[in-house]
Amino acid sequence: MQVYVTSPPYAESMNDASWRDRLRELPVFAGDLPEFDPDAAPADPLVLLEEWLASALDASVSQPHAMTLATADAMGAPSARTLLLKDITPQGLWFATLATSPKGRDLTENPRAALLLYWREQGRQVRVVGSVETGHRALARADFLARHPNARAIAAAGVQSEPIPGEAEYAAAIREARERIEAEPDFVPESWQTYLVRPAEFEFWQAARERDQLRLRYRLEGIGWTRDLLWP
Ligand SMILES: Cc1cc2nc3c(=O)[nH]c(=O)nc-3n(C[C@H](O)[C@H](O)[C@H](O)COP(=O)(O)O)c2cc1C
Repeated sequence: MQVYVTSPPYAESMNDASWRDRLRELPVFAGDLPEFDPDAAPADPLVLLEEWLASALDASVSQPHAMTLATADAMGAPSARTLLLKDITPQGLWFATLATSPKGRDLTENPRAALLLYWREQGRQVRVVGSVETGHRALARADFLARHPNARAIAAAGVQSEPIPGEAEYAAAIREARERIEAEPDFVPESWQTYLVRPAEFEFWQAARERDQLRLRYRLEGIGWTRDLLWP
């Protein structure tokens, strides 16, 4: 492995025209984009999120429930990954994962997170920032038991994001987890957890014609939401 301390890799990549040109030629937002009138947006950003999600479903956006979750540990080291949005309630946005995973540990140390939903077919992005709470055990049980048996076995077999010692160990752990799930259909690992992101801030971003963009930010102030349009 070559370790560069100063500028060579950047300088080299700037001289390598092929990636620069290929990337520049890519279209960003082609086709029709939905209308967005920030003046007509609802006072509650969760209502707008529901409207946009319903519109993404109607428009057959691919995986509209896939979102990026960004967390940071106690030292502030950030990390991000894709997760599925599991529910929207008046309290906020829900996801589910293993509390023993790196993100679960981050959230124990630093229970704040950012979420990002990106619906490229509609030129839309929703950013959410908030505090994170764990859901009731009954919710975690219901969520886990609704998963496909294979997904349950994989989640129950090992410690998420730890290195796999070897192929044989992996196969044996999955087999044992499958057998356990068949023998005990109600089995739910202790570490399976649902999490609620209680939003303090939202930003709704809409690409518009002629490379323009609309950005509507909501901030929780006391018990109500303030709204601002942001410079692109
Ligand atoms: C589309 C998609 C959906 C995913 N959904 C979940 C999910 O709902 N829960 C989960 O724990 N991991 C999910 N993953 C896997 C995570 O991105 C990640 O690899 C895993 O949770 C480990 O993350 P961590 O090491 O940061 O804790 C999903 C990945 C993709 C690409």
